[in-house]
Amino acid sequence: MNPSPGVAVITGAGSGIGREIARSLAGRGHRLALIGRRREPLEATLAAAGGRGAVFPADVREAAQLERIAAETEGALGPADVLVPAAGIAHVAPFLEQPAEDLRTSLEVNLVGAANLFRAYLPALLGRGIGTLLPILSVAARRGFSGWTSYCASKWGLLGLVEALREEIRGTGVRITLLTPGATASPLWDGVPGSWQRDAMIPVEELGRAVVWALEADPRVEVEEIRLQPAKGNL
Ligand SMILES: NC(=O)c1ccc[n+]([C@@H]2O[C@H](COP(=O)([O-])OP(=O)(O)OC[C@H]3O[C@@H](n4cnc5c(N)ncnc54)[C@H](OP(=O)(O)O)[C@@H]3O)[C@@H](O)[C@H]2O)c1
Repeated sequence: MNPSPGVAVITGAGSGIGREIARSLAGRGHRLALIGRRREPLEATLAAAGGRGAVFPADVREAAQLERIAAETEGALGPADVLVPAAGIAHVAPFLEQPAEDLRTSLEVNLVGAANLFRAYLPALLGRGIGTLLPILSVAARRGFSGWTSYCASKWGLLGLVEALREEIRGTGVRITLLTPGATASPLWDGVPGSWQRDAMIPVEELGRAVVWALEADPRVEVEEIRLQPAKGNL
């Protein structure tokens, strides 16, 4: 039997996929620890999700901030059992036109930021032998898209990290489910040059449903990956 839900820790929880996953996990009975740089969107997410939990404004690039929040979460809300690193950015431009700094920032937020979250909370999960990590990959974790060099590099890197981590923690009771969506209708696209078929993208609600489904799996089962694509293919 599945144990009662603990604290779900979600970065990038102030908008898009992170916000929707927060709402879904609240509906499953989790208390929420919501992380992002801006307080107001996090508070809006917490209110929309029913208000059980707390917000922690922080930058996922700062490992020390996440370590501090991990200690605070445990004291204020109880033990965490779900980790969702949904904080992410997309700098989209041809490689030679993109400032070199954009690659560094993409790697720091999308890859190192996820690692920072895991490093802060994973020891406690392993100590209890329970929990699920739900990194948000992308169709761009395995396939190149013109103009998306920094983003693809960060997601391919994250894929390597979590697949290696999966082998390290296999059999501990802590599971990893990769979420691998294609284009999803979120505010991320507001900053991407070009015109995009928003109404053909994956609705964020599908990510929320997918996460709950993975968590409901029998503890003897690891849902290793959930891939979602727009029915029309890559947009
Ligand atoms: N939308 C898609 O088509 C799609 C497809 C596949 C995968 N994904 C992935 O899904 C995840 C969520 O993306 P989304 O589409 O929901 O984008 P979004 O709506 O732009 O949300 C991104 C969130 O990340 C937070 N964030 C950005 N930099 C941060 C930092 N340094 N520290 C802490 N928080 C930070 C932002 O809040 P603050 O600005 O307040 O910090 C924001 O709430 C990302 O990893 C993205 O790569 C998206």
